[in-house]
Amino acid sequence: MSYNPGEYWAERGKEYKKNFKYSDKFELQEQMLIEYLKKYSFSSILEVGCGFGRITKLLLSNFPEITDYYAFDLSPHQIENAKINIAGLPKSESVQFAVSDIQSFQSTKRYDLVIASEVLLHILPSEIEQIIGKLVSLSNKYMCNIDWYEEKTPRNAAPHNFIHQYEKIYKSLPSLKSVHQIPIVKKKGFFSKIDTKQSIFFSILRV
Ligand SMILES: C[S@@+](CC[C@H](N)C(=O)[O-])C[C@H]1O[C@@H](n2cnc3c(N)ncnc32)[C@H](O)[C@@H]1O
Repeated sequence: MSYNPGEYWAERGKEYKKNFKYSDKFELQEQMLIEYLKKYSFSSILEVGCGFGRITKLLLSNFPEITDYYAFDLSPHQIENAKINIAGLPKSESVQFAVSDIQSFQSTKRYDLVIASEVLLHILPSEIEQIIGKLVSLSNKYMCNIDWYEEKTPRNAAPHNFIHQYEKIYKSLPSLKSVHQIPIVKKKGFFSKIDTKQSIFFSILRV
């Protein structure tokens, strides 16, 4: 079946929250993201493909210094659930939600941190370089994405998931000073580990 990103995510967004199952992989992902971001200072955030606001809630709850948070997703259902998800949090009034896809999103504003969690892996390979360039141009300090990354794409990869060469793409952008890849893996006991097969990609802009 061919993958039409807009149609696929608009449809999946209707049941996404209901079907979402929290697991030790998400727990590790969230833990490592918070731990990593605590090394940096930011007060404004642009979140791309925020879904039902899982990361929105996480960041709001862990970074009281946030004063300005703009989050968007192409799915109106996800955005409605995201509003419900953060309602009542002390900082919820600093969040503005919008329905938009990345491709048509426009802003003259720049944010300290631009973040996309599990979104860029769903962007078509033909668009990824342009999209990453656009997202970096919306930041004035940091760009962060969390995505599936392995050396080789397995043969059974789902049609809506792609492994992109994030590090290479970031390194090709002159506005970036450095790029860091942090694999989301943790040893668990002697023989086993939690391996999300994801990495945090964190880039710092030149000032
Ligand atoms: C796997 S979910 C991740 C949701 C959330 N970021 C999280 O980590 O829990 C992917 C989200 O990206 C959104 N999305 C996919 N392609 C998009 C695009 N081109 N523009 C905006 N949102 C997009 C989908 O609607 C969906 O909500």
